[in-house]
Formats: sequence, C-alpha cells, structure tokens
Amino acid sequence: MCGIVGYVGFEQAAPILLDGLSKLEYRGYDSAGMAIMDEEDKIEVVKAKGRLQVLREMTDSGHAVPGVCGVGHTRWATHGEPSVANAHPHFNKDKSIAVVHNGIIENYQSIRDRLVKKGYEFISQTDTEAVVQLLDYYYQGDPLEAITKVMVRVEGSYALGILFQDHPGEVYAVRKDSPMIVGHSEEGNFIASDVPAILSHTKNVYYIENMEIVKLTKEGIKFYNIDKEEIEKEMVTIDWDAEAAEKGGYEHFMLKEIYEQPKAVRDTISPRIKDDRIEIEELGMTEEEIQKISKIYIVACGSAYHVGITAKYVIEGMARIPVEVDLASEFRYRDPIMEENSLVIIISQSGETADSLAALRAVKEKGIRVLGIVNVVGSSIAREADNVMYTWAGPEIAVATTKAYSTQLASIYLIAILFAKVRNTIDDQAYAGYVEEVKALPDKIQTILGDRERIQWFANKFASSHDMFFIGRGLDYGIGMEGSLKMKEVSYVHSEAYAAGELKHGPISLIEKGILVVGIATQPQLYDKMISNMAEVKARGAYIMGVTNYGNYEMEDTADFTVYVPKTNPYFTTSLAIIPLQLLGYYTTLAKGLDVDKPRNLAKSVTVE
Ligand code: M6R
Repeated sequence: MCGIVGYVGFEQAAPILLDGLSKLEYRGYDSAGMAIMDEEDKIEVVKAKGRLQVLREMTDSGHAVPGVCGVGHTRWATHGEPSVANAHPHFNKDKSIAVVHNGIIENYQSIRDRLVKKGYEFISQTDTEAVVQLLDYYYQGDPLEAITKVMVRVEGSYALGILFQDHPGEVYAVRKDSPMIVGHSEEGNFIASDVPAILSHTKNVYYIENMEIVKLTKEGIKFYNIDKEEIEKEMVTIDWDAEAAEKGGYEHFMLKEIYEQPKAVRDTISPRIKDDRIEIEELGMTEEEIQKISKIYIVACGSAYHVGITAKYVIEGMARIPVEVDLASEFRYRDPIMEENSLVIIISQSGETADSLAALRAVKEKGIRVLGIVNVVGSSIAREADNVMYTWAGPEIAVATTKAYSTQLASIYLIAILFAKVRNTIDDQAYAGYVEEVKALPDKIQTILGDRERIQWFANKFASSHDMFFIGRGLDYGIGMEGSLKMKEVSYVHSEAYAAGELKHGPISLIEKGILVVGIATQPQLYDKMISNMAEVKARGAYIMGVTNYGNYEMEDTADFTVYVPKTNPYFTTSLAIIPLQLLGYYTTLAKGLDVDKPRNLAKSVTVE
C-alpha cells in the first residue's frame, strides 16, 4: 500500500515521477506528492489530497517543478486521514530532508514522544514524520550514517525514498518488509515500489533486500549494507512489455485483464506441459518427495485464498492428499501443528502481501517446505519461498484481480494432476484426460467472453441492488465466494456467498422479494440439490441468476436469467464459471458510474497488516 517512485538523471524528474506514480495508483490514491531538487538545490515539495490527477493539474504535468532529481508518492492512508498535511513527502523542520514512505512504523509514537521532548514539532498525524524527524536528529552531513542509525531504531515495515538538500543530485532509498526495486537506464536511475512504474524507461532492475540501502546519482547506483559497506548486486532483466501495463484501448484495466485471461492461462500452462506430460521443474521436488507429502496447507488472502478453496477440492479429489486452507492473517497467529512432511503453498499475485509473507516466514522457522505461487517476479514471497512457481499473468493493475486469479487456478490444476500421477491415484487415461481438459481451458474462457453483452444488460438491470447472494455447493461454493468478492469490492453492493446447504441454517431469513441470488450449479453430483436450493429462495421472492454448463437447459425452469459455460471436467469449472461473475461485477460497477479500477478504501497490494 502506498507507491513510491524516485528518479535522478538527465531528464526533468517531475514528469517522470508523475508517469511512474500513475502506474502505482493501484497501491493507493488518497493523496499524492513529489519532492524535487530544483536547480538551486533547494527541495520543493508539492502535494495534493485526492487522485494523482489533482497533483498533475497543480504542477502543469510536472513542468512547474523543475529539477532532475526527486521522489514521488501515492498514498493509502494508514495513520491520519487523507489530507494535504498527511500527504507525502514529509519534511524535517528546516525542510532540508524529504521522505516518502510505504509501510508502517510501529514505534512511531515513542519516537515522536522522545523527539517532542527534545523540541521537535510534528505537523502531520503520520507515522512517517517520525522517520524524517529522526533523520534530522541524527544527520550530521553523512546521509548513510543517519539512515543506518534510523534503520536500527525504527520498528515495522518501510520502503523509504529520501532527499538531502546538501547532497544534491542524490536519491537514497532503503527497505525492510516493503517492496522496492531499483532501475537503471541511459536516461537515469530509478527506485519504485513495483515494476510497472519504470517499465516505460527500463527493464533492467536490481532487487534490494531487507536492511539494504541504495544511493542513486545520475552517473550510477551504489548499494550498501547496514554497516555502510558497499555491496555488489546483480542486474536482472524483466521480460514484461511496457504495453502490458497500459490500457491498450480498453476503457478500464479490469476489462482488459478479464480479456487477457485466455492468454494468461495459456502462458501459465504451456511451458509446463511437454508432449502432453506435466513437468513443473520449479517445484524442485523429486517423485519420492511428492509421494511422501502427508498434508498440504494453502495460505493466502482475498482471491488467492479463494483459489485455495478450489485447490482443496481438486487436490484432495485427485491426489488424495489432505489439504487445509487458511487465511494468512489467521494462520500467522495460530501456531498450527504441522507434520514434517507437510507442504505449504503460499499463493499471492503481488508476492508482497504482508500477512502471506509473515505466514511464509513462520512456516520456514518450523523447517517446513514452502512453495510460492506468485505473479510478480522477484517479489518478497518469490524470493523467500523454498521454491516458486510463477504465474505468467503479466502485470495486473486493476485492484480487483481477474487474470492473476485465473492463472493461480491453472497452476493448482497442474500441481494436482502431477501429484495424482506421481502418487498413482489416477490412471494413465484419467491423466491424459485431465491434461487435455486443462489445455482446452483458454479457448473455453474465450467463448464465455462472447456473452459479455447479455451480462452487461443483466448487470444494468440489477445495478441498484443493495444486497446480493451467491450460493453453490462444493467447488461452486468457492466460485460463489470469488464472485461475491468481485461484486462487493468494486460495485459496493453488499454481497455474501453461502454454501447452499447452509441457507436453511440462517441466511434464508434474509431473502425477500426482488433480491438477486446467483446460483452456481456446475457440479453434476450436486446439481439437483442446487436446483432445489434455488427453488427455495425463488419461492421466497428472490430473483435468480443461474450459472451452469451447456446442456443443463432445464435450469431455466428455476432461474430467471441463465448463463451457460462450456463443459469441462467438473474439477476445472471454476476457471469457466468465474468469468460471467467477473463481468457481472465489472458491469454493475460501470452502471453505477464508479471507478472500477480504483475502488474506494482499497489498494491492490496489501503490504501492511
Ligand atoms: O497480491 P495477493 O494475491 O497476495 O493479494 C491478495 C488479496 O489482497 C487480493 O486477492 C484481493 O483480495 C483482491 N483485491 C481481490 O480482487
């Protein structure tokens, strides 16, 4: 949460920072600001409450703030309301040090109290101001000296971009448990919270580790450890296209990313299916190790957790390995009893989700093997997991995940089929059939996208709903959970997902005339029971949208509006049935005139607890 970008080089900094921040707005959009070192080597700070556009207009797209060195910030408020005073960058008392921050300084209050006693005044309610004032306290002309002193005194998570007025043309940065990359190009050097911010300038990046420091000048980049010793870093070339992080003619990133799903799923599965055999080298596991797995834990947040729900049904069903699925925020504090031969799978698009990362570290302390299923290459979870299986979704910008979720599902299918084959819980014929079905998913997703206009029509009709329910059984319950999250997070329509069998245990009392219930029925063995549950809510006045497979046309006797998805093996229907629900969330939001890519109060990457 919060996005940082920094630049020093041969071009004007402010337009570059604004461009970079526009790619990071998904990380927060409560306020935005920049600190630019001007030609007289004074630091000028400009900041504005609200979207980046306000800052852009205020600064004539950056041209009103000249200088070739600066740092910028887009904020997701944690400490202190969204306001100009709380917007970053923050200054020390004589405005000679400016800081942008992503993360949370947990001991900010005690630092603040100490400094107030020494005569410091604070003008914001942020935790970040404690950092800049502490820098001021320790600064005696040597930035590295002051920064390292601060690093050992602050607790929590931080990625910081820092300017010192008496060190013109230098940008300092440091990180601990918050993401930060460093970019290098002929036009200058960069820091950023995420790759898309600098992708139009360079694909050459360095990853900095926790408690490392970087100093950028236009001539070069230097890295230091906490002991102020210079260290070497290897440059990595990112293979994402700059266009992949643009809207490319679509009205919104969310729609673009929904449409990119066939390709993203294909890119994720193709390299791992060779001659119709699944090979996932990145798992780093021998057949013997796979046979020995006694239990799998899947730990994740939000939509990635919903992938875990699907994974439980698929892995248990196919490979007969018990699977426990946990929300990372719960798992990290519950001290689970784990067997030695367990495998923990952490699923994360960003690879930076604070709770998932903390869960990973807790597991590693117990000596249990951790596999990360991650989208962002080089992210913290990818680097700290024992093994990483990348989802090749490309940059996902919309806050609501779609294509990353789909590629996570595809990765799980590959793992489940492989484990089932190695453990002999499926025969050769079933194996071949599953592989064929997985390979066919991208085309089938493409087919469903053709139903877009019908779903848009339906979404317009129900856009004024206050409440919606998503019901299903088995895998269809997991689909409902993700459909419901998609709806509520972007359209602000209150929606709940229930296991259909639970309705009579309470939730059915919420059903009244005209309320929309989305019934998902793709599992043949549960189909009749689902139809009965849908009939029960219909009898109490609900309006029913049904989602089922081609061929189940009698669904129309119960549902008022039905969406059909192509047939596949029931294990894989999540990948198909979720598509209409993503579209439903998207079009409901559009009909309400809301900002679908940047829903209120949310940030894409939740890097704080
Ligand atoms: O980056 P991650 O996959 O770890 O993020 C997990 C959740 O924050 C994320 O899935 C969130 O729920 C999305 N906004 C859902 O669309």
